[in-house]
Amino acid sequence: MNFSLNAMKKSYPTTRMRRNRSAKFIRNLVRETSFSVDDLIYPIFVLPGKNKEQTINSMPGRHRYSVDILIKKIEKLHKQGLNAIAIFPVIDSKKKSKDAKEAYNPKGLVQTAVKLIKKELPNLGVITDIALDPYTTSGHDGLIDKKGYVLNDKTVEVLKRQALSHAEAGSDIVAPSDMMDGRILAIRNSLEKNNFHNTKILSYAAKYASNLYGPFRDAIDSNKNLSESSKETYQMDFANITEASLEINLDIDEGADMVIIKPGLPYLDIVAKIKSKFAIPVFSYHVSGEYSMIKSASQKKYIDEKAAVLEAMYCFKRAGCNAVLTYYTPEIIKWLNKN
Ligand code: PBG
Repeated sequence: MNFSLNAMKKSYPTTRMRRNRSAKFIRNLVRETSFSVDDLIYPIFVLPGKNKEQTINSMPGRHRYSVDILIKKIEKLHKQGLNAIAIFPVIDSKKKSKDAKEAYNPKGLVQTAVKLIKKELPNLGVITDIALDPYTTSGHDGLIDKKGYVLNDKTVEVLKRQALSHAEAGSDIVAPSDMMDGRILAIRNSLEKNNFHNTKILSYAAKYASNLYGPFRDAIDSNKNLSESSKETYQMDFANITEASLEINLDIDEGADMVIIKPGLPYLDIVAKIKSKFAIPVFSYHVSGEYSMIKSASQKKYIDEKAAVLEAMYCFKRAGCNAVLTYYTPEIIKWLNKN
């Protein structure tokens, strides 16, 4: 087919763009993007112990839960169509160390939580984070040398053990968010060798050194460990786009099944570019800072929360995202059910 937009359509008044916007039914018919509960992944913070629930100051409306309560909360959402959760542990400061060995403890918080969740809710997809920041005294995603530089290959060895321990506990998808080089290949080889052929790898392939992760670091209590240190020697420079293609190309070669671009809304140009270049599912992470910005503006009544959040979800889909990780999942499910 060879036509230009001009040849297809005549100008005003033959063409009035507002005709197709003049009533809800026609707007619905010409809508180019759809969004549903199927597109949601709920990131959630898990606490050690039982019967515990804590608020998170920097994320109003979100909580940290011990796994017994978490299962009850998730069960309700799962019944309403939620497909998957991503769990993030709040590790007791006494269990943090230089070598992050708690990360692969088969009886650790994540491993125990995954076992319990999969037992109670076998059809819910469980995604676990592969990175060392909850476990290191430095608050970094990897092991550091004397100067505080994050060591790549030594970290990958630990990540490999962490991922295998998650797979053994029953994690459906391991999601390396650490940005070390070569970790996807190392994890893929180890999963294959140990017969975890269907354990999926969701790579945070293009994860930027963003200023929007603050509330998350508060939620998992790694902020004070990290102190003034930044993650710029491993996470990407937010000024770059070509580099994202290279990262994704490498991770596809190394065995990733899906990739994440992170953060979310300010990075949709990256999503659109990656979708046009690569045949791999792309997820976006609507991160903690984005959640808290919308939440606080809507608490002050500067914006309409429901409208702003649903708009954001359509924007993710329009850019080409297959799914979105968002802390707004519980509200969205409620709103979709009311519509
Ligand atoms: C760390 C990790 C981070 C997030 C998910 N995994 C923070 C960081 O890189 O410091 C942030 C998510 C969010 O802000 O919602 N491995």
